[in-house]
Amino acid sequence: MGVNQATLVLIKPDGLKKSLTGNILTRLSETKLEIVAAKIVRVSRELAVEHYVHLQGQLFFEELIRYIIGELHDRKKVLAMVYWGEDAIEKVRKLSGATNPEEADPVSIRGAYGRITTKGIYENVIHASSNENEARREIQLWFYPDEIIVELYPTREAVEREVQKRMWVK
Ligand code: PPS
Repeated sequence: MGVNQATLVLIKPDGLKKSLTGNILTRLSETKLEIVAAKIVRVSRELAVEHYVHLQGQLFFEELIRYIIGELHDRKKVLAMVYWGEDAIEKVRKLSGATNPEEADPVSIRGAYGRITTKGIYENVIHASSNENEARREIQLWFYPDEIIVELYPTREAVEREVQKRMWVK
């Protein structure tokens, strides 16, 4: 039996624009993993750069940032989720297919729906964490502990003072 793991899944702006959310979630349900967190995120440049920090310096970096922010698809949002369960990282990566959509198995999510732009950027509709360290780093970047319904990593209590927040008008 494998170990229980958490993995970050992003349905990227092209996936949302092409109305692929339902199809992708149906494919991911084949894994029998549990969704333990989900939200729609308007991705800031800071979040995008932090997410792809290990790729800074690559020729495609700037376009990759513009892609995940949604500037290439006029859809400034991504669906961020945490999947949890046995061998979650490997299971989601397998269903997603190779990072390069042209190398991905045609029956995988990226093989079926991804493409490479004329500028050479992979528009591969989904992101999935590549290993446990990356999963932890990415999940902690995209989610606060209370947005996840299981205890994944150690937390600490902190009192936030003078944080400006938007509230509903009552
Ligand atoms: S991987 O497969 O997650 O380990 O890939 P990694 O090396 O960490 O990240 C590569 C991300 O950059 C995106 N990207 C490209 N990679 C290589 N070559 C080109 N031309 C390119 N264009 C974009 C690639 O899709 C990976 O992002 P994610 O979000 O993981 O798909």
